[in-house]
Amino acid sequence: MTYTVSVLVGSLRAQSYARKIAKNAVAMFPEDFTANIVEIGQLPLYNFDYDDPQVPEPTLPEEYTQFRETIKASDGILFVTSENNRTIPACLKNAIDIGSKPNHDVAWKNRPCGVISHSVGRMGGYSSQKNLRLALSYFDMPTVGQPEVFLGKSPELIGEDGTFAVASTEEFVRDYITRFADLVRTHRSAR
Ligand SMILES: Cc1cc2nc3c(=O)[nH]c(=O)nc-3n(C[C@H](O)[C@H](O)[C@H](O)COP(=O)(O)O)c2cc1C
Repeated sequence: MTYTVSVLVGSLRAQSYARKIAKNAVAMFPEDFTANIVEIGQLPLYNFDYDDPQVPEPTLPEEYTQFRETIKASDGILFVTSENNRTIPACLKNAIDIGSKPNHDVAWKNRPCGVISHSVGRMGGYSSQKNLRLALSYFDMPTVGQPEVFLGKSPELIGEDGTFAVASTEEFVRDYITRFADLVRTHRSAR
């Protein structure tokens, strides 16, 4: 039995630390998991006209359909995000909004999630993570309670080769991914 996890990265930057952290996390999943980064930069800005039954002949962007199907086919979602102006970057909020409609078929619903935030400063994207959890609280997504993963001073945690430069951080993230994988397994067996 294999489990599928979609990993969403809250940054579009080519050299993003969030993406580097996400790539490390992907490699930490147990053997019975397939984890993939799902790109969100190509998604058109969310517009409810596409989903509004009152709007005559709405044309849903193909990117929305693909994204929603990918999320719905996932056994779990891992968010790895940076912080923009004390909240989540717009690309990630856009993806969350797209997955949140239509009301009768919310892609996020009942999918276990994990959250990792980072920042170049000391606070590890605390406010971003709390804002992300606020948005996700609307979708009934089971989550790993503890630990919360705030990675501060990310440039010091990631080496030139893109892997973790600090062993204790690597271990911390690995432990979190193991806990998240356990949650995903438990949740699917209970469905
Ligand atoms: C528009 C913008 C807003 C930012 N706001 C914050 C912030 O509120 N808190 C913070 O810790 N860092 C903030 N930063 C700095 C980011 O933490 C830093 O650019 C980081 O490298 C972005 O993550 P990434 O490397 O994954 O792209 C901001 C950066 C940008 C470009």
